[in-house]
Amino acid sequence: MTISSHVAPAPETTSPGLENTIASETILSHVDGAAGRLIVRGYDLDQISSWSFEALLVLLWKDLAPGQVTEADVQTALGQARAAAFHLVERLLPTIPHLSQVEALRFLLAALPDSQTVPHHVMAVAAVPVFAAAIARNAAGSAPVAPDASLGHTEDFLFMLHGTRPSEENVRALNTYLVTVADHGLNASTFAARVIASTKAGMFSSVIGALCALKGPLHGGAPGPVLDMLDAIGSEDNINAWLSASLARGERLMGFGHRIYRVRDPRADVLKQAVGLLRHGGGRIGFAEAVEAEALALLAEKKPLRPLQTNVEFYTALVLEAVGFPRESFTNVFAAGRMGGWTAHVLEQERLGKLIRPQSRYVGPQPSQL
Ligand code: ACO
Repeated sequence: MTISSHVAPAPETTSPGLENTIASETILSHVDGAAGRLIVRGYDLDQISSWSFEALLVLLWKDLAPGQVTEADVQTALGQARAAAFHLVERLLPTIPHLSQVEALRFLLAALPDSQTVPHHVMAVAAVPVFAAAIARNAAGSAPVAPDASLGHTEDFLFMLHGTRPSEENVRALNTYLVTVADHGLNASTFAARVIASTKAGMFSSVIGALCALKGPLHGGAPGPVLDMLDAIGSEDNINAWLSASLARGERLMGFGHRIYRVRDPRADVLKQAVGLLRHGGGRIGFAEAVEAEALALLAEKKPLRPLQTNVEFYTALVLEAVGFPRESFTNVFAAGRMGGWTAHVLEQERLGKLIRPQSRYVGPQPSQL
């Protein structure tokens, strides 16, 4: 028998980055890149950016998971789950001293057993701040601080990080951040979560896959490098020289450019406003604005055909710095917010019950005919 050299025609291919492919329908969020608009379940970003993170979770999980129908339900469920997650920290944290902070988060999330009784979407959201705060403290040589289940989720995150009750303004700023980044269409990490969920691998496997995608510098790993860039530039008179040299070396400026937005990322403005309200954040804004303006001018000059605008990561860096997170922990804080969206997408995908299995176009050699 001969091996047929005939290859069934593949469907129309798309670009390598799937830019123009609709890979899923969702009721969760929509990114309008031309208008610079983010809609989350029927609300524009600026309508929800002052909501509590718990209220946003009610919206995201509505009709997708049983229980937790009010903000108070979510707050109680998260508080209990944070306490349960802390047991894992006490047991496992001493065994992971040589990992980066995002690797350590990946490690601890991987230790969550599928068999546990707390609803998995609640546990996934609750666990990230517990783990992220303990990991950040561990990196600084401090013991972890146990969660206080009576606090709101955001307030407890800062309490576990600093070991003291945070100011209201810091809680408000971090809350705005968590809500602002909670969901954002079919970004790379959310898509990864949905692919894994479609195999029925379960919530924890799906969101760990998402975290692995988020960790890359082209996705959620950018805000730490944004601060590195601001530090390296150092002063206003060095902005043009530093940015020009970086672009001449073919480097990407962190905090600029986006796959979908062709105008300014609406999340950047919400976060810029949030950092402006902070006592310890305002001072950085003038310098950051000067860097932003020069970067946009240079990018427009260097890539006239590609609109490259400020993305969410630029002002994220300033918010997270101002409320006291070390830059090595920024991706983990991003994951704490995005976990809201990931869990909702996993629940939505599980409901759909359809395996995601696209095709590839084979461009390798054909087997020789026998
Ligand atoms: N600085 C300099 N040049 C850039 C930048 C940038 N920040 N972003 C894109 N470009 C250039 C590319 O070099 C490329 O140029 P070329 O055509 O001459 O090779 C062109 O613009 C198109 O780049 P792509 O990578 O094809 O665009 P894509 O839409 O895939 O990239 C991305 C989007 C990955 C975010 C990109 O803009 C980037 O690397 N930005 C810097 C990292 C960053 O800020 N990441 C956070 C993104 S927001 C988030 O995920 C939450």
